[in-house]
Amino acid sequence: MKLYEGKAKILETTDNKDVLIQLFKDDLTAFNAEKKDNREGKGALNNQTSSILFEYLQKEGIKTHFIKVIDNTKMMVQKVSIFKIEVVLRNVAAGSIVKRIGIQNGTTINPAILEFYYKDDALGDPLINQDHIRFLNLAKSEELEEISVIALKVNDLLKSFFIKRDLILVDLKLEFGRNTRGEILLADEISADTCRLWDAKTRESLDKDIFREDKGDVLTGYREVLKRLKTKR
Ligand code: TMP
Repeated sequence: MKLYEGKAKILETTDNKDVLIQLFKDDLTAFNAEKKDNREGKGALNNQTSSILFEYLQKEGIKTHFIKVIDNTKMMVQKVSIFKIEVVLRNVAAGSIVKRIGIQNGTTINPAILEFYYKDDALGDPLINQDHIRFLNLAKSEELEEISVIALKVNDLLKSFFIKRDLILVDLKLEFGRNTRGEILLADEISADTCRLWDAKTRESLDKDIFREDKGDVLTGYREVLKRLKTKR
């Protein structure tokens, strides 16, 4: 039974109340769904990419909601209650930060910048800080501390994982949830929809910026990312 449908994924219930099926859709949206498309095969690419990345992170000791791949577009996940916070980490300036603080696109950011956005489509996911999170009751201060520590670790792990595959992890968006046992888990997806990934040599985008900025065939970029993840495991 369908439990929830978002812009890019559907969550379905299973016989086990603690377990869900996460189905990756072929829909592509950008700028809070102002720009839309549907590309056959996008869901399958993101499911495979996310599965590889979650498996890698779990091997490195990060707790995630990922259980196993079911088929091309579906994975089995632990049921979590999602914190309404989007955690963004930036290693290179691109996207919204370029305009917000007036830095040049492509500037290295080291150590990474950690940002929080309020996960609310009606408000257009505004940038928020710890005080807004406390005021809105989105997470307790200890929870936010734990989420931040995990997010920075995930960024470090993925940054080195990607560079070994000639990919620069420019930035990424993470979401966290609490499972029925009370543990905080990394949830949602990690894919070329939710990360900016540049070819290390040419610095060309291989992620959703291809779609956002009409830079070519978006699936060619997503396939290239997946190919590099698969050829070196
Ligand atoms: P931004 O530069 O537009 O703020 O995006 C930062 C990163 O977060 C980028 O990798 C894209 C990702 N992202 C999402 O996954 N979902 C969103 O709704 C937004 C705004 C960004």
